[in-house]
Amino acid sequence: MWPLRDQLLSFRDRVLSDPRFQRFATTSRVMSPIARRQARSLFDLCAGFVYSQVLLACVELDLFRILEAGPLDAEALSAELDLTPEATSRLLTAALALGLVDRRGGGRYGLGMHGAALVANKGIQAMVAHHRALYRDLADPVALLRGEDQGGALAGYWPYAKGDTPGALGEADVASYTQLMSASQTLVAEQVLHAYSLAGHDTLLDVGGGDGTFLCAAARRNPGLRLQLFDLPAVARRAETRFEQEGLAIRAQTFGGSFFDDPLPNGADVVSLVRVLHDHDDDRAQHLLRAVRNVLPRGGVLLIAEPLAGTAGAERMGGAYFGFYLMAMGSGRPREFADVAAMLSKAGFAAQRLVRTAVPLQTSLIVATA
Ligand SMILES: C[S@@+](CC[C@H](N)C(=O)[O-])C[C@H]1O[C@@H](n2cnc3c(N)ncnc32)[C@H](O)[C@@H]1O
Repeated sequence: MWPLRDQLLSFRDRVLSDPRFQRFATTSRVMSPIARRQARSLFDLCAGFVYSQVLLACVELDLFRILEAGPLDAEALSAELDLTPEATSRLLTAALALGLVDRRGGGRYGLGMHGAALVANKGIQAMVAHHRALYRDLADPVALLRGEDQGGALAGYWPYAKGDTPGALGEADVASYTQLMSASQTLVAEQVLHAYSLAGHDTLLDVGGGDGTFLCAAARRNPGLRLQLFDLPAVARRAETRFEQEGLAIRAQTFGGSFFDDPLPNGADVVSLVRVLHDHDDDRAQHLLRAVRNVLPRGGVLLIAEPLAGTAGAERMGGAYFGFYLMAMGSGRPREFADVAAMLSKAGFAAQRLVRTAVPLQTSLIVATA
């Protein structure tokens, strides 16, 4: 006998999938608001890819930067966007419907709620722009699930994901993803550094630390903190330049190598893996956790920051978006806290806890103690 909850859900499914009930729900005074909400939500699922392409067009045409300077009428926008009046009207109508722009007095258009938020978060615009590759890979999602179509656009964008010799990647291979990560790192760093104070620590090693954006944010908050960064050689060189530009070279050491082939540096009492672990399949992720454990002293801390699957309020991000994103990329998977906790125990960590961040959609935080 199935549990009561299963039986109730089966009953619900039978009722909801009956066309007679659907007709009744849309006309009943009590049921129709719920039916309308459900219909809207289902329509959003069907049409989501079109919404995303409208957003991509707005970002690529620089609509939000143009409107940031102030509202404009359709004629002026047509000239700015270099689109015909008809195309401009079509784009603005769609952007209006999606809350990306709003109508203003005198037939002008200004930023909408979402448009204004995108102006504040340039990193999201950079993410949207790179979605071109993801759209290409998801053109046949069933083939991708069956492993028949290897996609390839995202794997090319993130060449370390499937390559056997990531340490050999050159400057041109890493430039675009490193810039994207840097642009979208600011918000993540704020979440992590707000949720966990580094005040009691001496040296932070950021593994897979990109061009050093996270370490720069940590250094600003913690003037006495020493910094270490480990990443692929071509990325570590970018970080070195960044630390010099930020006047942090005296506090920072950079190490180039592959964490699957080369040892991590010693000396840190806190290590961070920010948006790194979910990139890798289980065996490689386990190897990485073990490598981190080996360089931490007893009582040292590992911070794992990434969107986790099964996070309340962020289920779509962890489960749907990252699930399919990483499949298209060719390695890794979003994990739930329990999955990562089991891997941490296996790697020799003594304890781990999930720390709430203000916006789990951007990142969750796991604090593990060696
Ligand atoms: C998704 S990015 C995250 C970057 C940064 N932590 C952030 O959140 O902005 C993953 C990082 O891991 C690095 N990485 C991937 N494979 C690596 C490897 N085998 N050894 C060292 N670094 C690696 C990449 O170069 C990249 O900088």
